[in-house]
Amino acid sequence: MEKFIKQGQIIVGLDFDNSQSALEITKFLNPENYKVKVGNQLFTACGPQILEDLKKQGFDIFLDLKYHDTPNTVEKAVLEACKQQVWMTNIHLSGGQNMIEAAVNAKNSISSEILLIGVTVLTSLDQKDLSYIGVSNDLRDQIISLINLGKRGGIDGIVCSPNDLAYLNKEEMDSFITVCPGIRVKAESGGQKRTSTIHDAINMGADYLVVAREIISSSDPLKVINEIDSYFI
Ligand code: C5P
Repeated sequence: MEKFIKQGQIIVGLDFDNSQSALEITKFLNPENYKVKVGNQLFTACGPQILEDLKKQGFDIFLDLKYHDTPNTVEKAVLEACKQQVWMTNIHLSGGQNMIEAAVNAKNSISSEILLIGVTVLTSLDQKDLSYIGVSNDLRDQIISLINLGKRGGIDGIVCSPNDLAYLNKEEMDSFITVCPGIRVKAESGGQKRTSTIHDAINMGADYLVVAREIISSSDPLKVINEIDSYFI
C-alpha cells in the first residue's frame, strides 16, 4: 500500500448544522493526522462554543468564514478570529487590496500566529460562471492576478483548486501555503467543477487538502476515514 499523506495534511470539513454531528465524526479522527475546518454553516449554527469543543479534543482549527466585506469590518473580524486562537482563517482575495491589508494588519497588530490565507476563485466556479458575474478575465489570469494581490498584501497562502497549483512558481510554492478543496478520495466530481484526488493533489504539491462530503456524507464515514488513514506515512 502506497503511503503518501503526511501527518496533519488532511483538513476535514465539518459541514454540519449542529455540534453533536460534528463531534461524533471527530471521535474517529486522530488530531495528529487530521485538522478540522469549521465553516459558515457550523459556525452560524453553533457559534464559538464549537471551537472550544474541538480545541478540547486537541484539533487545530481552520475557521473558514471567507471574510469579504469593507476593510474596517474584515480587520475587526480577523482580530476576533485571532483571539479565538484558531490555527488558520481566510478572506476572499477579490475583496481587494485594502481589505487584504486590513486583514493582515489585524493579525500583525496582536502578533497572532494564525495563518491567514486567501480564496482565489472558488473551485465551484468555471469560466462561464466568471463571465456571468462580469469577470472578463480568463480563469487562469483571474487566479494569477488574485494570487499576486494576496502576495503583495502579505497573506500566508491561498485556497485554490489543485489544478491551479501549476500557476505558482517554485519560490511561491515554497513560501506560500496552499490549501486545496474539491478533493475526492477516488476520482469523481460531486458538484465541484475543479476537483482532484488526494493522491494527485499531493503530487501536485498541495500543503493541505480539504475533504468534507466524501467523509461526512458517506453512508459509512468510518470506512472512508480508515481508507484515508491507510495512506498516512
Ligand atoms: O469535499 P467537499 O467538496 O464537500 O468540500 C467542500 C468544502 O470545501 C466546503 O466546506 C467548502 O466551503 C470548502 N471550499 C472551500 N473553498 C473552495 C471550495 C470549497 O473552502 N474554493
